Amino acid sequence: MTAQEMNKTALILNGPNLNLLGTREPAVYGAHTLADVEALCAKACATHGLTLDFRQSNHEGELVDWLHEAGGLHAAGKLAGVILNAGAYTHTSVALHDAIKGTGITLIELHISNVFAREAFRHHSYISPVAKAVMCGFGVNGYALAVAGLAQLQA
Ligand code: DQA
Repeated sequence: MTAQEMNKTALILNGPNLNLLGTREPAVYGAHTLADVEALCAKACATHGLTLDFRQSNHEGELVDWLHEAGGLHAAGKLAGVILNAGAYTHTSVALHDAIKGTGITLIELHISNVFAREAFRHHSYISPVAKAVMCGFGVNGYALAVAGLAQLQA
C-alpha cells in the first residue's frame, strides 16, 4: 500500500461567496484568494499526512450532497474529517445541520473572521451544535490550524 493510499482525506468545503476571497471585503477577509487558501491547505495536509479534497460552492444543495459523499467516505474508514466554512449558510441552513447530523462525520466549523465581533445575525450558527470543534477569527491561516486540529483529533 502506498503512503497516498494510507492517507485519510481531509475534505475542505467552502460555501457561498468564498470564491470572491481576495477582492471581497479585504478589511474583513484579507487579501488572499481561494486559490491561495487551497495552496495553504495542501501544505498543511502534506505536513500532517492527509489527502486534501478542497471544494467551493455557492449552492446549498451541492454542499449537502458533498456532506453525504463525506458520510460515505467516513463509513468506508477513508475520511479524517470535514472542515466546513459554510459562509452565510452557517446562519440559515437547517439542511446543512441535518446533513452533518445524519452522516456522523467529524466536522470542524471554520470562519475566517471572528463572527462574534460582527453583526448579531452572524452570532447564531446552525453548524456549531453538530460540529466537533469551532474555529473563527484567525484569518485564512485558520484553515491550516484547522487541518492541524483535524490531524490531532484522529491521532
Ligand atoms: C464567514 C463568516 C460568515 O458570517 C459570512 O457570511 C461568510 C464568511 C467567515 O469565513 O468569516 O461568508 O464564514
